[in-house]
Amino acid sequence: MAGIIDKMVKIIDGKGIADSLCYSLSENVKYLKKRYSVFPCLKVILVGKNPASKVYVRNKQKKAESIGISSETISLPSDISEDEIVQIIHKLNSDSSVNGILVQLPLPNHMNTNRIINVINVIKDVDGFHDENVGKLVKGEKNCLIPCTPQGALYLIKTIEQSIAGKDAVVIGRSNIVGKPMFHLLLQENCTVTILHSRSKDLAYYCSNADIVVAAVGKAHFVQSGWIKNGAIVIDVGINSREGDTRLVGDVDFEAVKTKASAITPEGGTKGSP
Ligand SMILES: NC(=O)c1ccc[n+]([C@@H]2O[C@H](COP(=O)([O-])OP(=O)(O)OC[C@H]3O[C@@H](n4cnc5c(N)ncnc54)[C@H](OP(=O)(O)O)[C@@H]3O)[C@@H](O)[C@H]2O)c1
Repeated sequence: MAGIIDKMVKIIDGKGIADSLCYSLSENVKYLKKRYSVFPCLKVILVGKNPASKVYVRNKQKKAESIGISSETISLPSDISEDEIVQIIHKLNSDSSVNGILVQLPLPNHMNTNRIINVINVIKDVDGFHDENVGKLVKGEKNCLIPCTPQGALYLIKTIEQSIAGKDAVVIGRSNIVGKPMFHLLLQENCTVTILHSRSKDLAYYCSNADIVVAAVGKAHFVQSGWIKNGAIVIDVGINSREGDTRLVGDVDFEAVKTKASAITPEGGTKGSP
């Protein structure tokens, strides 16, 4: 029986979907350059030597370049002052050749992340973390920049079902980077959304009534098959490493949950890989 159900589940090909999206973006970039002489440029500010941040920044730079966006990383020492970073951002804000500014998080503990993010010109805030972009997302305004992970998760969901209005959706996790913006994006799609967190009671109850489950918890294999309604769409945002395991694992117990879901993102990758 499990074999029959396995055949029915759609494993969402995030990589293939990303490749075709990148192709169409590269065509748009070519058009911008040719038609308007606009040469998109992203500046990434990396403070300190956090190894995971270095990998993320390198990958963002490679991806930007692969679609024709020039990208430069400004690497700064961890003992740099907050005011010096603010000055650098002001310069990038007033440089008309710079279209996007991204400050890689987390910043060192002595820095006020909110202050630094809010110095970025709101139209160059490609991460969508500036208070004005967050506020617009909450109000359902269209002209804002949206954090990429939840936006990507919604994009994946819509490759499975174009219209999700009226669906019951559960988001596990309420971070500002993933969970909360995911909640608002699903709400804008007219889903009935429940957001769960570490103080929530009976996660299994809420998940088992959901047509869509997005897991952004940061705990390996946290979401179990018994929680999932037959036919649900399950999006696993989690990237977790476990002691003694070279693989990265998700927040969802993929092998078990795929026997229940109608569509699910795979887990995979190895530590330190793109
Ligand atoms: N794929 C990507 O591009 C991408 C991007 C960003 C993050 N991630 C991954 O996604 C995961 C989540 O990232 P994040 O930045 O959102 O993490 P985070 O800031 O640590 O937030 C985790 C959330 O999970 C909740 N949580 C923790 N334990 C829980 C429990 N036992 N029951 C219910 N909720 C619980 C927390 O609740 P409280 O608020 O109550 O503490 C919090 O809201 C991580 O694995 C991260 O590596 C992936």
